[in-house]
Amino acid sequence: MDVFECVKTLSSIRSYVSKAVPDTVVREVIEAGRLAPSAHNDQPWQFVLVRDKTVLKGLETYCISGRFVSEVDFAVVVLTDPASKWHEIDGTRAVQNMVLTAWSRKLGSCWIGRLDREGLMKYLGIPGSLNVLTVLPFGYFDERRAGAVKNRKPPGQAFHLNRFGNREIK
Ligand SMILES: Cc1cc2nc3c(=O)[nH]c(=O)nc-3n(C[C@H](O)[C@H](O)[C@H](O)COP(=O)(O)O)c2cc1C
Repeated sequence: MDVFECVKTLSSIRSYVSKAVPDTVVREVIEAGRLAPSAHNDQPWQFVLVRDKTVLKGLETYCISGRFVSEVDFAVVVLTDPASKWHEIDGTRAVQNMVLTAWSRKLGSCWIGRLDREGLMKYLGIPGSLNVLTVLPFGYFDERRAGAVKNRKPPGQAFHLNRFGNREIK
């Protein structure tokens, strides 16, 4: 799928179907994260790939605003290192790479922001020096649910031409 087509159709998916994702696709998704650009090329990230069904089920407890994590084929816990100044921005670029790559392979995802971070870190043995940016579930979904009209500010409320305030943009 063309990149802009991906961007236009991407939407957060919160309901999944039970279907295994091939290993090659799982690998592509995490590779997309690893290949992201970062400030000074610091690469201040670690990715915990969760594929074990029991461990996935256990994640549900810690994903307060994304209990659907237990429905997916795999999840990626995205960790960043606060020792690097732009760690959250860098981590977010890795997230977008992974989510778009997954979408191009017909896999849905959703940023899970409200987490019991302390509990999750204990559960997965994550060192206290790292920051849990998000947990990303990945799985196939009913494609009829995708492609909904995007609920976004209209261009006239987002774009300026040459100078702030000039709305004469085509
Ligand atoms: C930083 C961030 C945190 C988010 N946290 C959650 C979350 O905890 N649970 C959830 O269901 N969606 C979460 N989302 C998804 C947003 O609600 C979603 O992207 C937004 O409503 C736009 O919808 P769309 O992604 O379908 O276009 C989050 C998105 C971002 C970027």
